[in-house]
Amino acid sequence: MGRMTDKVALVTGGASGLGAETCILFAEEGASVVVADVNDGRGADVVKAIEDKGGRATYQHTDVTRGADIEAAVAHAEATFGKLDVVVANAGIGGAASRRRLEDLTEEQFDEVIQVNLSGVWRTFKYAAPALRRAGGGAMTSTASVAGLSILGGTTLGGYTASKHGAVGLTKFVAAELAPDNIRVNCVCPGRMLTNIDESYHWTDEELAAARTRRGGIESAGGMRTMAHPREVAYLHLFFCCDESSFVTGQAIEADGGLNLFMNKTGLVTETPADS
Ligand SMILES: NC(=O)c1ccc[n+]([C@@H]2O[C@H](COP(=O)([O-])OP(=O)(O)OC[C@H]3O[C@@H](n4cnc5c(N)ncnc54)[C@H](O)[C@@H]3O)[C@@H](O)[C@H]2O)c1
Repeated sequence: MGRMTDKVALVTGGASGLGAETCILFAEEGASVVVADVNDGRGADVVKAIEDKGGRATYQHTDVTRGADIEAAVAHAEATFGKLDVVVANAGIGGAASRRRLEDLTEEQFDEVIQVNLSGVWRTFKYAAPALRRAGGGAMTSTASVAGLSILGGTTLGGYTASKHGAVGLTKFVAAELAPDNIRVNCVCPGRMLTNIDESYHWTDEELAAARTRRGGIESAGGMRTMAHPREVAYLHLFFCCDESSFVTGQAIEADGGLNLFMNKTGLVTETPADS
């Protein structure tokens, strides 16, 4: 406990899944947290969960496809807590781009997933960096995916894969650019997690219910666990954002239970986070 004492953190996509677990974990470790998301109801729930345990948090409606929203969230962090020194660019969607073959995907569907998963990370880093400089340095992370490091062959994940490979490359580039400013930047690459991401696929209610039945819980296949609770991945954001990783920057690390070791090799991976 106490690994985030005196730190002020902003987490995009903080209302649900991995982002929510990261907000709650950071608060448990002593951070003051800005929960930034487009889902105002779930965002309020996360703030309440933190405050009920004696932590400090505030919610700010923030659409990462809008630079002005991110600037406002950064200003809100500084106005509320006096500074900003930790940023987690986590907001992401599967989107229709995850579900269609190349020729069937429209330009709008491809652009939707790129705007959130890639350009959203870029906007978050861009508009947060000046605040971290004002704080004398800090740490930023992005959430990519195992699909940002490997190719899930045989699936229809083209747009998602492109967005996540982009997020990995962008994070490493920004790490190099900001290292002289005492700002570390790293990337978390999750495997499958039990979250609400399937709500972003533009499925019908029936398709969503069927997918959730198929997905089940924290399952295993062939002895290997293939689904994580998001808290298990939030600990990697914590490591990258606290002082224990003070000499670590420009890294992209998987938290996937071994999924990446099997991709494209054994055929074990027949479904992806976005397919499951
Ligand atoms: N769930 C998985 O299996 C899995 C696997 C690998 C990577 N990821 C990545 O993890 C991250 C978190 O996803 P999750 O699984 O927790 O899903 P989730 O749907 O539970 O949470 C994502 C949050 O992002 C928010 N969001 C969506 N669009 C936004 C926007 N334009 N601006 C601000 N917020 C927005 C949503 O409202 C939601 O609260 C994403 O980047 C996702 O791609 C998830």
